[in-house]
Amino acid sequence: MEKDVMIVTGAGQIGMAIARRMGYGKKIILGDKSSENAQAAAKVMNDAGFDVQPVELDLSSRDSILDLIAEAEKEGEITMLVNAAGVSPSQAPIEAILKVDLYGTAVLLEEVGKVIAQGGVGVTISSQSGHRMPQLSPQEDEQLACTPTEELLSLELLQPGNIRDTLHAYQLAKRCNEKRVMAEAVKWGERGARINSISPGIIVTPLAIDEFNGPRGDFYKNMFAKCPAGRPGTADEVANVAELLMGGKGAFITGADFLIDGGATASYFYGPLKPRES
Ligand SMILES: NC(=O)c1ccc[n+]([C@@H]2O[C@H](COP(=O)([O-])OP(=O)(O)OC[C@H]3O[C@@H](n4cnc5c(N)ncnc54)[C@H](O)[C@@H]3O)[C@@H](O)[C@H]2O)c1
Repeated sequence: MEKDVMIVTGAGQIGMAIARRMGYGKKIILGDKSSENAQAAAKVMNDAGFDVQPVELDLSSRDSILDLIAEAEKEGEITMLVNAAGVSPSQAPIEAILKVDLYGTAVLLEEVGKVIAQGGVGVTISSQSGHRMPQLSPQEDEQLACTPTEELLSLELLQPGNIRDTLHAYQLAKRCNEKRVMAEAVKWGERGARINSISPGIIVTPLAIDEFNGPRGDFYKNMFAKCPAGRPGTADEVANVAELLMGGKGAFITGADFLIDGGATASYFYGPLKPRES
């Protein structure tokens, strides 16, 4: 018997927490650039009664994304998408951050949006970083939202001279994710499907641990110590939001972004984390 199919990209902590919460009874096609990560996560899940097929995926490649979707379609109708693959500012250079987090996410939303089942639902993991960057102009926001995917990386605001460092590239990529979700929600809606993004703050995962040990380690540790929650979050808390967005209680939510950061962004603008003029 064919099962409904859930595509999950990123065999990391956040992707797996959402897959465990929403994927029971579905065929889960799990794509990751590291087949080791995908296979290890699939084993843990399959040993717990899930049905996970690991697939090698490079989110920065349209061909690789199309292969992943073709693999999923062999199994049945694609009813869910969870995009939790990505690289952080301490893990990759500017070019790779833009190619994976910005371009790859845009292509994935576009391509899955062409085949998602009626009533289907997706979430993509953005970041609080997209909220912390100063506002862009309405024209720049519209460019990030609507520029055809193959032209995105040629936009003036994404050219090397206009990007300060890897954190700035990450912020732009995550802002783009949120804008892309808004534009895609209109297209997904034509198929009776919904798509939203979740913007986590610091969530303890290997990616965050790389940040704690990277050049901005003290900045991040200070951020969760001084935010209203006073601690980092967990992948299971991100899955709580995904459960709302992907389930029936989220039926009226699409094209939206949900910030889950323990109040760090609030504190960055109006509290103890506010950058002081030196
Ligand atoms: N952990 C945090 O504090 C945090 C905060 C905000 C946003 N995020 C976002 O959450 C998402 C998931 O991160 P996580 O914390 O679960 O990290 P993680 O390191 O646990 O997992 C990320 C996974 O993505 C995979 N990956 C990297 N590049 C890829 C590519 N080109 N194609 C396919 N797979 C690739 C990695 O191999 C890894 O398995 C990322 O988009 C990240 O930016 C994380």
